[in-house]
Amino acid sequence: MADSIGIALLAAGKGTRMKIETAKALAPLLGRSLMDFVIDGVSAFSEKFKLDAHIGVVIGHRREDVQKHVLSTYPKRTDISFAIQEQQKGTADALKSYFQGTSKAWKQKYTMVICADTPLISENELSQLFEQLSQNPKLEGVAATFKTNDPTGYGRIVRSSKGFHITEEKDADAETKKIQEVNSGLYIFKTDFIKKHLEEIDNKNKSGEFYLTDLFQDEYEVKPLLFANEMVFHGVNTLDQLEEAELHLRKKKTKILKNKGVRFYDADTCYLDWQVEIGSGSVIYPNVVIQGATVIENDCVIEMGNTIKNSRIGRATTIFANSYIDGAQVAAEVNIGPFARLRPGTELADKVKIGNFVEVKKSQLAKGVKVSHLSYVGDCEIGQESNIGCGFISCNYDGVNKHKTKIGENTFIGSDVQAVAPITIGSDAFIAAGSTITSNVPDGAFAIARTKQVTKPDLAKKFLPKKVKSSSY
Ligand code: UD1
Ligand code: MG
Repeated sequence: MADSIGIALLAAGKGTRMKIETAKALAPLLGRSLMDFVIDGVSAFSEKFKLDAHIGVVIGHRREDVQKHVLSTYPKRTDISFAIQEQQKGTADALKSYFQGTSKAWKQKYTMVICADTPLISENELSQLFEQLSQNPKLEGVAATFKTNDPTGYGRIVRSSKGFHITEEKDADAETKKIQEVNSGLYIFKTDFIKKHLEEIDNKNKSGEFYLTDLFQDEYEVKPLLFANEMVFHGVNTLDQLEEAELHLRKKKTKILKNKGVRFYDADTCYLDWQVEIGSGSVIYPNVVIQGATVIENDCVIEMGNTIKNSRIGRATTIFANSYIDGAQVAAEVNIGPFARLRPGTELADKVKIGNFVEVKKSQLAKGVKVSHLSYVGDCEIGQESNIGCGFISCNYDGVNKHKTKIGENTFIGSDVQAVAPITIGSDAFIAAGSTITSNVPDGAFAIARTKQVTKPDLAKKFLPKKVKSSSY
């Protein structure tokens, strides 16, 4: 039978040093929340060892927000529950709350303690720590440690011939403070060991808190496991540390994509959210922002200065420089921009062309439609191969409601046409330049709606007396 493990995910702290309104565990990080990275890490770890795992999230400060976030981000996970810590009296008290509030907790063979604010810890570190404990039958607990040039603020790892223990910064003497090996805050214990010693922990220390680190005493069968990579234990307590974590994850993200065949000209200038997917053969120019659940398929070209959010971009599509795309579904071999704006609800079929200074909103453009310059296409349905001339405007808003414009297939809309919606223009129709179309146009029809031109010979000089010499005309 699979070994069981309870994971106490500590997320009750106030995060005062962050100076933001949201709970620290929910601080935004590459389009997700800080704690999501921790949940993903522990989930990958427990899957790898096929463990019977349960996560108990300890919540306190802004608990409703944290709970709501977890439930909506992981809606199908029945292995996650919540335990409330009423007052933040220290990490040992948080672990007590975990046991009180998580029905399965005492029954799990192992218990892992991990903090919500260490987003860079991966399945790799968790696995190594777990193997250390599970492969040494005598051991009762292990703590992940690392060495740092600036150990300020961390608990110090005090090793001696008698064993090892952890001394918190506030309680450390000058000698102990010099120790550079520090406690990462990640531990795995045998649950029976915690049962024996958790109640013994008191708050007789300089900060008056219940320290979980008191579970590590010289005489106990516990061990530190020193990791070489300090960065993986990077804790987020300030916005500066949040940015550092983000830089690190962003580099990791672009590296994963590069290994899959995505070409970046300068990945350091690109800002990609964690969920973003890009197919091989695609090329990303500098200064590109790609956010949310965006998928870019193979062989696309994304030029300089583009922002793409929550969109799907089909194969071999080119997005020329400085376009802004949000909530659009784009099929294959489409050309967009430069300086185009696609707003939510835009659906472009294969081989559509959207040119410069064109805005499209909540519209479906069928295969091969061209809107090449300076247009507003809102609430429109345009059939295959229709050509929309320069300066087209769908007048979709009457001040109160939005209305639809329907244009059929193979229709030619001349330059500077306004379609006053609701309106239907048929297939194979021709709308003359400069027309304001206010009534429906049937299939195959020609429509023109502009005042007749009046030309008066020789009259220009009346308006431009100084510029036009009377003798010329
Ligand atoms: C803790 C460790 C320290 C270690 C450091 C690593 C203790 C006593 N000290 O110190 O040895 O070097 O982490 O970053 O454990 N939390 C609660 N409830 C509480 C208090 C804290 O849920 O009552 C949560 C916080 O939200 C946070 C985590 O526990 O996720 C750690 O708490 P924090 O106050 O940041 O501990 P440190 O002082 O950093
Ligand atoms: Mg901390």
